Amino acid sequence: MKLSVIGTGYLGATHAAAMAELGHEVLGIDVDETKVARLSAGQVPFYEPGLPELLSKHVESGALRFGTSIAEAGEFADLHFVCVGTPQKPGELAADMTYVDAAFTALLEHVRPGAVLVGKSTVPVGTAARLAQQCAAAGGALVWNPEFLREGFAVEDTLRPDRIVIGAEDDDARAVLERAYESILATGTPLVVTDFPTAELVKVAANSFLATKISFINAMAEICEVTGGDVTKLAEAIGHDDRIGKKFLRAGLGFGGGCLPKDIRAFMARAGELGVDQAVAFLKNVDEINQRRRARMVDLAREMCGDSLAGRRVGILGAAFKPDSDDIRDSPALDVAFAIQRSGAAVRVYDPQAMGNAKDSYPTLAYAPSILDACDDADVVLHLTEWAEFRSLQPDDLASVVRAKNMLDGRNVLDPQHWRAEGWHFRALGRP
Ligand code: UDX
Repeated sequence: MKLSVIGTGYLGATHAAAMAELGHEVLGIDVDETKVARLSAGQVPFYEPGLPELLSKHVESGALRFGTSIAEAGEFADLHFVCVGTPQKPGELAADMTYVDAAFTALLEHVRPGAVLVGKSTVPVGTAARLAQQCAAAGGALVWNPEFLREGFAVEDTLRPDRIVIGAEDDDARAVLERAYESILATGTPLVVTDFPTAELVKVAANSFLATKISFINAMAEICEVTGGDVTKLAEAIGHDDRIGKKFLRAGLGFGGGCLPKDIRAFMARAGELGVDQAVAFLKNVDEINQRRRARMVDLAREMCGDSLAGRRVGILGAAFKPDSDDIRDSPALDVAFAIQRSGAAVRVYDPQAMGNAKDSYPTLAYAPSILDACDDADVVLHLTEWAEFRSLQPDDLASVVRAKNMLDGRNVLDPQHWRAEGWHFRALGRP
């Protein structure tokens, strides 16, 4: 099939390459000319394992190309995926719908009668019903098809999703989308067909649940900290109950990124507009528990430096919001680094992939080109993003460069006994 993808960020670029991999002819459209030039040259403007190979393969074969003209998208295809972002509005909890509205308005000026428009962006419930009317007025039909991809696993999650959710009012339009996903569905991928509001809610409900699970175990970490318990053992033990499960129970510095934080906040804002704010009032606690972990990390660093950070040197390992990503949106690691700097310490940050983005957004932080440089002469080392190269760190690797053997593990992946046996003062979140 011929199809267009409007918006080529994390979601759109991955979706475009994955659709080409499924055998479709794909045109990706973005307003950012620099991004389009890079994608057209087969380069991915962000770090996502496996995507550069997939993208260049299909750009070279001609199955995938990119442009800036939305009119061309209308000419090229009768199936259009809208993948633009819905970031948090500055100073508000609500999502900024400017990009979604602009994309639909522009696209609808150019689509042919009978075109199918697929909304993939994460939007406040009620958006699809409103956009469906706009689509119908232009002779098109809307379906809503939320995306659940995780950064770092985006290609895998798109080609082999846990489920496909389609919200539709129009059976013909739904059938067109099912045909586009035919080869994924043929492998037995569960398909959930529903109405617009449910499809929109599935996405925010899933992210709210995941955020709640993380904050739940981090709340237990707070309790462990005053009782002498060990949250990693607690998580292991409750995770053996398969009604609870082990996944998303890793206690530590908490969640960040471009999705979970802004999605739970937008959900609270939308619930407020609908007069059902009490239904998701718990999400405020979820958000607060998550923020408190960052503050706790700064407090522990201060304690390890003799109750004052002023004049201290702090080595920071990690800037990305999670490993295998260069995304620094709402990154707990950079938030902590910035707060520690504000407390008067000299920080040096190292991350395997996110340095460029970090430097752009936090230009006043100091950066180091390697782990050893970041930890050089440090009074304390903070492990904040669990990249493989940090997980495999040995006490001996750092012993000769640091000023004091103080290690603070914000991700609960280093072995406390091992570090302590080598003479380090080792602390972690939620552990004795
Ligand atoms: C998330 C959802 O998983 C995905 O389905 C949705 O489409 C977009 O949002 P992503 O933001 O890529 O994906 O990251 P994810 O792997 O979910 O991790 C989110 C954050 O939670 C990260 O900061 C991670 O470090 C943190 N996390 C995750 C924990 O602190 N503990 C855990 O046990 C799991």
